[in-house]
Amino acid sequence: MGRLYSVLFAAAYLSVVSTTTISDIQGTRFLSPLAGQSVQNVTGVVTAKIYEGSSGFYLLGEKPEDIRVSNGLQVFTTSTSTLGQVTVGDLISLDGRVQEFRSSSSPNNLFATEIASPTNIVVRSSNNTFPIVILGKDRSPPTQELSALDVGPDGFLSNPNNVSRIDTVNDELRPDRYGMDFWESLEGQIVTIPKPIATNFENQFGEFWVYGDWHVTGKNSRGGISITSGPDGIPDANPETVIIGSPLDGTKNPTTAVGVALTDITGPVVYQFGFFYVLPLTAPQVISRPSSNIPPTTISSNGNDPCVVTFGDYNVENMAPTSAHIPTVASHITDLMKTPDLLFLQEIQDNSGETNDGTVGADVTLKTLIDAIESVSGVRYNFTQINPVDGQDGGVPGGNIRTAFLYRPERLQLIPGTPVGGSLDAIEVRKDTKKLALSLNPGRIDPTNPAWASTRKPLVAGWQTRNKKEFYTINVHLSSKGGSSSTQGDARPPVNLPIDARSQQVAIVADFVASVLDRDSKAKLIVAGDFNEYSQTRSVFAPLAKLLTEFDEVVDIPRVERYSYVFDQNSEQLDHAFASPGIEKHKNKAAFEHIHVNSWSPSFDDRISDHDPSVGKFFVCG
Ligand SMILES: *[C@@H]1O[C@H](CO)[C@@H](O)[C@H](O)[C@H]1NC(C)=O
Ligand SMILES: *[C@@H]1O[C@H](CO)[C@@H](O)[C@H](O)[C@H]1NC(C)=O
Ligand SMILES: *[C@@H]1O[C@H](CO)[C@@H](O)[C@H](O)[C@H]1NC(C)=O
Ligand SMILES: *[C@@H]1O[C@H](CO)[C@@H](O)[C@H](O)[C@H]1NC(C)=O
Repeated sequence: MGRLYSVLFAAAYLSVVSTTTISDIQGTRFLSPLAGQSVQNVTGVVTAKIYEGSSGFYLLGEKPEDIRVSNGLQVFTTSTSTLGQVTVGDLISLDGRVQEFRSSSSPNNLFATEIASPTNIVVRSSNNTFPIVILGKDRSPPTQELSALDVGPDGFLSNPNNVSRIDTVNDELRPDRYGMDFWESLEGQIVTIPKPIATNFENQFGEFWVYGDWHVTGKNSRGGISITSGPDGIPDANPETVIIGSPLDGTKNPTTAVGVALTDITGPVVYQFGFFYVLPLTAPQVISRPSSNIPPTTISSNGNDPCVVTFGDYNVENMAPTSAHIPTVASHITDLMKTPDLLFLQEIQDNSGETNDGTVGADVTLKTLIDAIESVSGVRYNFTQINPVDGQDGGVPGGNIRTAFLYRPERLQLIPGTPVGGSLDAIEVRKDTKKLALSLNPGRIDPTNPAWASTRKPLVAGWQTRNKKEFYTINVHLSSKGGSSSTQGDARPPVNLPIDARSQQVAIVADFVASVLDRDSKAKLIVAGDFNEYSQTRSVFAPLAKLLTEFDEVVDIPRVERYSYVFDQNSEQLDHAFASPGIEKHKNKAAFEHIHVNSWSPSFDDRISDHDPSVGKFFVCG
């Protein structure tokens, strides 16, 4: 990849500074006080050379008293003759120009400080040793906040976001409190991460996130790091983790997964591609991998009790009739979820899959899945759903993904006597009936409201058990997070797209829920599905949280175990199930469990959906 940088202060201020130290160049803020200036006789020990891409080497100068000030620095050069003049361990001095740069194609990245165009390289001595910062011993990262600029009640998840920029404000660093300031204060220095544990699969470039042998918060039983909230209620962004880039010596990183333990990693701290990285001098080795055995749910449908209903929720990731993962999903539903009475599914594609041919029906897709489940479990599900208008509900082009319910007809029936809604019909609570009743079954909530542009409209269904007890379910799949900025980018709080759309979508669902509960405050109702948002983004969930309670809360799942997805460093909850007061009232008869079959996959390639399923149960009588 070409390194094309837009140089800050491009009109170099050509004053000449004699004998500048690396600490002078790094300073106490994000941007160098000497950016754009020529510097002379900068002295330091060569600590690492970048072989791949040959883009320079790292220097370490005198250690300053002030921990905000880094004494490490990258010297940027692509000249093989310049690179040939220096060897790791050489004490050298050089002249050059201080540059703050970022890739011109990534305007949301921070600038990184470096010396460009090095000249007059003098090797003063060789074979010098140099100190390495042992993280967890010499310095430890803060564990909650990323930046002082993440203002708002939801911290880094606050809305409005993108209200200020780190490199414009250019604050004094506070490495004791803010994660980005911490890593910036080590820019260019060589650090060791003792006993690293991976918190995710490697990405497509072989990079992966870790924490080391230091104090962390949010650690879950698998060894991952969950998004939680701090004691002050502000969401915790997990700044105590760092991403490991490509090894400097050209070796290849191992594949990782949540909880994989590795040998110590040593290398320079650099900012690139939107995050603070440690670039290992050489690839670490895997020491251990967690068990690949996934325990099944302990929640069973005690078949004979019509008062207890079991349900599951699963985003089955772009399922078409020809999808190779259908048998695996069927085995998850059978062996791990224990064939619950009702399934909330998301990302069911139409019968022609991603072929963009105007097909909107999904009966073939659903029957293929139902057949696959029956072949392994003997359980025959029925299904209900409403076709979207072609091309109007977002997702992969041509796929027409939608939400759908599968149900066990020997346990549940749709409440009869109500027409099935069309794609554009808005479901309502009937005003002309003595007891709670809906105008459609199933039906969609306010499907023509512009808030649902290019996304899935919520699917509502009313159910009755064998003993004629009724309950209601809403299956949601809100707008996805595409287009959001990196959590360690320049914009603060980070851009979270499209948070305003998700907020409106939740408010519309909440209005409908309120209309049900206004009619019958004891109504049994569940809203579940893929919300594409964390519980900690409280502003989005506020209208619904006033009316309903998350099952995780109802059954008191430990906070660090509330997740359904892994992304970057975080285990996080995008999939939620909310219970009405009529269900919460019988919390001693309720249950809920996350089945981490995909987050705990032994490798990225073995994962069959990006989301974990969940299973729950609730009491419908009384
Ligand atoms: C360069 O800096 C070193 C100390 O880092 C000093 O000993 C030397 O005199 C300086 N040279 C010049 C020409 O200023
Ligand atoms: C540096 O150390 C290596 C190995 O210990 C030795 O071969 C080499 O001669 C040394 N170089 C200098 C300049 O002392
Ligand atoms: C963030 O705000 C800046 C203006 O400060 C704007 O140029 C940029 O487009 C915004 N980014 C997003 C993703 O909205
Ligand atoms: C399955 O659902 C369809 C459509 O709602 C219905 O006509 C049929 O009777 C159901 N089958 C069973 C076995 O309940």
